[in-house]
Amino acid sequence: MNIIIKKYKESDFGDLVELMEELQDFIVNIDPMKRLRRLPLYGKIYTDDLLKKIKQNQGIIFLAEHQNKVIGCVAGIIEKQTKYDLVRCKPTKPGKILELIVTKDYRSQKVGNLLMDKIEKHFKKAKCTVVYTDIFEPNKGAYKFYQKLNYKSRLIYMIKPI
Ligand SMILES: CC(C)(COP(=O)(O)OP(=O)(O)OC[C@H]1O[C@@H](n2cnc3c(N)ncnc32)[C@H](O)[C@@H]1OP(=O)(O)O)[C@@H](O)C(=O)NCCC(=O)NCCS
Repeated sequence: MNIIIKKYKESDFGDLVELMEELQDFIVNIDPMKRLRRLPLYGKIYTDDLLKKIKQNQGIIFLAEHQNKVIGCVAGIIEKQTKYDLVRCKPTKPGKILELIVTKDYRSQKVGNLLMDKIEKHFKKAKCTVVYTDIFEPNKGAYKFYQKLNYKSRLIYMIKPI
């Protein structure tokens, strides 16, 4: 399969919105607490906010394309350590993966690996020393995917209804 990985440009906005909607639907579907949802305005609002974060934090978005069709994306930013971070953590330059999705019909064909390879190389070139991401705990598939790429767990977010 001939997959092209390219940098996001403004004309890809509609495709990016669709991917963000598919990602949210996926997460809503696996939420055991049924706490999450996707309102009709979600795609545009969320994608606008993502693009803002990308612009403000030396971020980048790569899209995967097959036969001129967008089939996945990865988005990431480079974080700056504040003086508060530095009193409790050694100096590091973290790259953070904000979003990752491969559209349903194209999963398990190494597109996710291609996207991750591209963004990790981008972070290395920018002299990042670590790369990290947040995962929704019920998303066992994504957890296994990242484990295979040698990511280790660091934080656990806990919640209970009261
Ligand atoms: C997670 C996701 C991006 C992976 O992309 P993908 O193209 O399907 O993954 P790849 O084909 O590149 O798989 C790479 C490796 O991860 C493993 N893997 C991928 N998805 C997996 C899953 N659901 N369960 C177990 N292992 C999985 C593959 O078996 C493969 O292992 P191998 O290298 O030993 O063969 C994709 O499944 C997806 O978009 N999922 C829904 C959205 C999502 O969860 N996004 C991440 C949010 S944190």
